[in-house]
Amino acid sequence: MMEITSPGKIILFGEHAVVYGKPAIAAPVNSLTTNVKLKETDDEISKIIVPDKSLTPEERNRLEELVELMKKELDIKDNFHITIDSSIPISSGMGSSASLCVSIAKSLFLHKNNSVDVDELSKLALIGEKIFHGNPSGIDTNVVSYNQTLFFQKKKKNEFIKIKKPLNILIADSGIKGSTKRAVSLVKKKYEENKIIYSKIFDDMEKISIVSKKAIEEGDIEKLGRMMTLNHALLKMIGISNEKLDYIFSSAIDYGAYGAKISGAGMGGNIIALVKEKDIENITEALRENGAVHVYHTVIK
Ligand code: PMV
Repeated sequence: MMEITSPGKIILFGEHAVVYGKPAIAAPVNSLTTNVKLKETDDEISKIIVPDKSLTPEERNRLEELVELMKKELDIKDNFHITIDSSIPISSGMGSSASLCVSIAKSLFLHKNNSVDVDELSKLALIGEKIFHGNPSGIDTNVVSYNQTLFFQKKKKNEFIKIKKPLNILIADSGIKGSTKRAVSLVKKKYEENKIIYSKIFDDMEKISIVSKKAIEEGDIEKLGRMMTLNHALLKMIGISNEKLDYIFSSAIDYGAYGAKISGAGMGGNIIALVKEKDIENITEALRENGAVHVYHTVIK
């Protein structure tokens, strides 16, 4: 039997702009994980087992499709019982589908070759993620595959970011399920209608990602916070925020976060806040009181 665990992720800067070829920054979250157990079977077909959750027929079909697609890519004829156990909230911008795709892909690679090339892993995971998100940029599957903080740009080599000072991040889940596919297509529609203005916003997001990479490398936490808040304003402009997300965002700022923003596709999902270590408890409390259904603390280092 093979057992693989992969992390969740947050996007620190540049979501949506990354779909249009701009750079973005993402970090793994190792306190939220997807665990996959792969057991070979003589059965005629592979079977998905998700303890403690009854899958809808649609969910089951998608997962079976995912496994068959990956098996085909790797030319694997064997069948498996695949048990999935995840602590990552679904449709919340924390990488649940990427983490699942990477875990399944990694276990299949190991079954076949006893080894994994991380580049190949992230490519196969991305093929799988298309089942969930249409045409993802690849940032999620890359950050989860490498399990390192990344400066990611489509068609370019990943740059791994050296973090000078640990970043205390609170992830406030709004409890509103956000569909990445829907958010990406909404932004695309608006971009098509107004290319000049949207291109300008994506250019500004690019600048924020570049400045923020440097701030992370130099340990300039205050600047990083300012960049997050600026990035949030731009995400709001492209129409993927809503009243609840803005409310949670404002409470983080009011209670003294260095900065905050939507992380991921938006229209739901989560707000991340960069905070001082001494403020973790206070701000967590404030985020909960102002609508977050869960608040996770993670340290990016
Ligand atoms: O999967 P999410 O919700 O974290 O969003 C991914 C980031 C987007 O830029 C919105 C989409 C993409 O494919 O990069």
